Amino acid sequence: MNNVLKNITECVSNEMQEFETLFNNCFSSEDKLLNDILVYTNSMKGKRIRPLLIFLTAKTFGNITEQTFRSAVIIELLHTASLLHDDVIDNSGLRRNNRTVNALFGDKAAILVGDYLYGKALATIKTEEDFLLMNVFSRIALQLPQGEIKETDVTFNKDTDLSTYLNVIYYKTASLISAATECGARTCRNPNINVQEMTLLGENIGMAFQIRDDILDYDENNLMGKGLGNDIKEKKITLPFIYYLETLDKKRKEEMIELFFSDNKSDEDIHSIIDNVRKSGVIEKSIERQKEYSEKALKCVDTMPLNDYSVQLRALVQYLTIRKQ
Ligand code: IPE
Ligand code: IPE
Ligand code: MG
Ligand code: MG
Repeated sequence: MNNVLKNITECVSNEMQEFETLFNNCFSSEDKLLNDILVYTNSMKGKRIRPLLIFLTAKTFGNITEQTFRSAVIIELLHTASLLHDDVIDNSGLRRNNRTVNALFGDKAAILVGDYLYGKALATIKTEEDFLLMNVFSRIALQLPQGEIKETDVTFNKDTDLSTYLNVIYYKTASLISAATECGARTCRNPNINVQEMTLLGENIGMAFQIRDDILDYDENNLMGKGLGNDIKEKKITLPFIYYLETLDKKRKEEMIELFFSDNKSDEDIHSIIDNVRKSGVIEKSIERQKEYSEKALKCVDTMPLNDYSVQLRALVQYLTIRKQ
């Protein structure tokens, strides 16, 4: 794990360890093929940003409860399922520095195991109290696929504008991250919390997080473990390219759109798009936009009690803005 992230995690390290045990228990089955795929999926560990956000939010206001743990497991399961599905949709061969499930076991297996993890998330719901969170979980289950559908539409739409892009990333990423901070706030047994403010915190973090992800697709020094130029390969217009098109005259803009939307682009084509975008200075502009969301997130943190946990939450927001992985 990255050192910055390690330091941030320190104050909830016992809880993160307990989370790992509960989460790992979801990845086995008596069915041999299902078990093989579950074990493989779980062997590639993610950054665990969402559970970390849940625990830091809960601890800032109160206690981490059994319900906090269950909600962390549910949210990380939904996240994992969405990645399995996303890699099929995006035709991705690499995730977390390893081959994707779709690349190794095929698209059908990846979709079905993703569905199985959605089922596991449902099966984690246990008490009557958990049912009070059902609207949060069902909201995610509805918004994630809607985000992917909206984005699929974008890949056929050459006039993707800023507001369409922001709408897509809200649905596919910010909704889940806002559910994480909301669950932290709702499960810590403190009735005096402005839950809406905590939902907004996650929403702003999520927007900044996805913009960062999209910028890193244009950064050859990224350490994301999922390659470079994937969005370009898949004809996905993201913030840097939207800003880039704004800098071009009509003729050049048409040429670039034609290249961007052409099938089977060579590595050279992809590098030339990346080069052009980078040289135009729009990466800096995209970073500015990302920072606006991070600053809004920090304003939400300002409304929280000041303690060790909110200090780490602030550090996490700042880290996500500069992350390379
Ligand atoms: C990847 O999320 C998907 C996006 C929302 C960009 P993460 O970067 O949190 O994925 P892992 O779990 O750490 O691999
Ligand atoms: C974001 O999709 C993650 C999901 C909503 C599943 P992307 O396609 O932009 O993310 P990466 O780059 O594959 O992680
Ligand atoms: Mg993808
Ligand atoms: Mg995608």
